[in-house]
Amino acid sequence: MQEFQSNSPQKTKMIAREFAGNLKPFDFVSITGHLGAGKTKFTSGIVDFFCNEKEAGGGYILSPTYTIMNSYNCNVTINHFDFYRLKRQDELENCGFFDSLSNGAITIAEWTDKIPMDYKKYIEGNYYEVDIAIGKEGKSGESFKNKRHIKIEKIL
Ligand SMILES: Nc1ncnc2c1ncn2[C@@H]1O[C@H](COP(=O)(O)OP(=O)(O)OP(=O)(O)O)[C@@H](O)[C@H]1O
Ligand SMILES: [Mg+2]
Repeated sequence: MQEFQSNSPQKTKMIAREFAGNLKPFDFVSITGHLGAGKTKFTSGIVDFFCNEKEAGGGYILSPTYTIMNSYNCNVTINHFDFYRLKRQDELENCGFFDSLSNGAITIAEWTDKIPMDYKKYIEGNYYEVDIAIGKEGKSGESFKNKRHIKIEKIL
């Protein structure tokens, strides 16, 4: 397991860009953490690594919460899912998730704990778990608003 401290959105993106160097087609990345932890920010660092700015839509990405998936066709296809609002198995089947796992894309997903089935057996590449925890206020009351503790684990 690797652990990192971040004190800004830019630092989180930098950590994600470095991590992205490990990723290959068929790999899967689950990103956990509370609302606003920086899961989408971390994803944008991965997209940055594989896409030039124009392809990625001006250097920033949108959170797919309402559409479930955003797709970036860069050096490799990156499909970014957000399952926060996922309710039923048929939504999972219809949103392109299983296609993404089997067609050579890199799949990134937020809120995988909302997936109502054992999807892990469909992952063909490596499986990574990224957890982002929002920092707590220090004893001296220093600002914690932008602090994040990021854990990256490759699950075998
Ligand atoms: N160190 C940091 N790393 C990442 N984001 C940070 C950091 N400090 C502050 N932020 C801010 O926290 C917010 C993170 O938003 P982001 O959409 O990435 O979160 P999220 O985990 O995807 O949330 P959601 O669960 O709603 O999808 C941004 O507004 C970002 O500017
Ligand atoms: Mg998000």
